[in-house]
Amino acid sequence: MKIPRLLQAVLVLVGTYLGFIVVFDILLDAVIPSSLLTMYMFFVTAGVFMTFTYDEDRTRELVAPIKALVEDPSKRVLRNAVFVVVPVAAGIVTYAQMLPSFDAPVELRSIHPAPPTTAEIFGRRINLMKLENPYRGFETEEPKKFRKLVAEGGKVYIRNCQYCHGDKLDGKGPYAQALNPVPLNFQDVGTIAQLQESYLFWRITTGGPGLPKEGAPWISSMPVWQKFLTEDEVWKVILYLYDYTGHRPRSWEQG
Ligand code: HEC
Repeated sequence: MKIPRLLQAVLVLVGTYLGFIVVFDILLDAVIPSSLLTMYMFFVTAGVFMTFTYDEDRTRELVAPIKALVEDPSKRVLRNAVFVVVPVAAGIVTYAQMLPSFDAPVELRSIHPAPPTTAEIFGRRINLMKLENPYRGFETEEPKKFRKLVAEGGKVYIRNCQYCHGDKLDGKGPYAQALNPVPLNFQDVGTIAQLQESYLFWRITTGGPGLPKEGAPWISSMPVWQKFLTEDEVWKVILYLYDYTGHRPRSWEQG
């Protein structure tokens, strides 16, 4: 028994699709991104149709079942059924895709989880309750030196942070759109204005991986900056964040 050419083409496509999934998912234990799979399948489909329509005879063989379905008087019932079922199925799929979902997320994420009392940062155990920015005093004592430190912090920021948090510190950096949770907007009164400098130090040095469980369910992309910056640079970039936005860090006396 000869398999019709059209069915052959479909079988090749389905087989390749399943092949990709088996190779990636089961053998490589990796999830293949759907956009990549769509791209692969596009090229495979193009290749299959190029091969199957190589000359006129093959083309005729390939489209014969479709031609028969549309033209053959004896296939009237089947034809009518196909012409009803296909548009209805397309309609249902489109409707299901467009339907907005109002479901609340399974878990709520805490944006500012309580920090631990102590944390292992820069290779030593730091008491976060007592930690203060060593440069904060210069703001009143030596304003000139303070300006220089802020400017140095600005350089650290532009080199490392603006890609996500934005060059205006508004959370709208070029990478921001792709991230969930989004990088925080430091201009907003709901972020650094509510926090102490020691809290920022903890968040910057330990990043997304340093967040406690309440900081889930999404994985924060905030890098672990203690791997890339010095302790000095972290304190300076904190000065810059407050200076640029005009916010004041929370301190124990105020709250
Ligand atoms: C790859 C993107 C990315 C880069 C680069 C990045 N951040 Fe973040 N950052 C995030 C995301 C996403 C969040 C929000 C989720 C979270 O709290 O971890 C965040 C949160 C923060 C917070 C917590 C603010 C709050 O209100 O709790 C601080 C502070 C911060 N970032 C500072 C920085 C500094 C300073 C740099 C540069 C040294 C930097 N970030 C670079 C993605 C980034």
